Amino acid sequence: MALLIGSKKIKTAVFISGTGSNLKSLIKFSNLKKSPISINLIISDNPKAKGLDYSKIFNIKKKIFDFENKNIAEKKIFKEIKKNKIELICLAGFMKIISKNFINKFNGKILNIHPSLLPKYKGLNTHYRAIANNEKLSGCTVHFVNSKLDSGKIVLQKEVKITKKDTPSTLAKKVLTQEHKLYPKAILKIFSF
Ligand code: GRF
Repeated sequence: MALLIGSKKIKTAVFISGTGSNLKSLIKFSNLKKSPISINLIISDNPKAKGLDYSKIFNIKKKIFDFENKNIAEKKIFKEIKKNKIELICLAGFMKIISKNFINKFNGKILNIHPSLLPKYKGLNTHYRAIANNEKLSGCTVHFVNSKLDSGKIVLQKEVKITKKDTPSTLAKKVLTQEHKLYPKAILKIFSF
C-alpha cells in the first residue's frame, strides 16, 4: 500500500486503554496543516478509558471491544478498520498485546509509543525499574510493532534525565511530556519526504 502524502491525509486509528493524553496530542497534531495523518477512529478495550471523552470533544468515531475473547475482539476490530479504510494504527497506551495474526493481516503500519529507551525496559513498570536500577537516563521510544513485545524497528527516541529526587510518578510525568512531542515527530519522520 502506498502511503504517499497528497491532498488526502493518511487515515489513522488510535488504540487506547486509559487516560489518552497521547491520543489528545495526536489529534491536535493531526489537525495541523503539516500533519500527514487524520485521526478517523478511536479504539479501546476499556469502556471506562478516560481518553474516550476525546471522541465527543473532537467528533471522532469511537468503538469499544471486549477482549475477554481476544480472537473475536480482533476479528471485530479488523472489520472496523477495513470499514473505515484505516491505513495506519497508532497504539497509545493500549494495554493489550496485538496478535501476530492481526499484525500480518493489517496491510498497513502499526506504531507504538513506549515509556523507556528501548531495547531497555520492555513491558510494564518501566519508570520503577529504571529508578531501581540507578539509571541516570530514561526516555521514550516510538517504534513499529512486530510480533515480539516492544521489539519492532525504532523510529525515534527522546532521552529524559533521571534526578536523585525522581520517583516513578515524577519520572512518568516528565517522560509523558516528551511522549506528546515525540509521537507527532516520529509520524512526520516516517511520512514526510
Ligand atoms: C504512556 O506512557 C505510554 O507510553 C504508555 O502508556 C502511557 C499512556 O498514557 N504505553 P496516555 O493514555 O497516552 O496518557
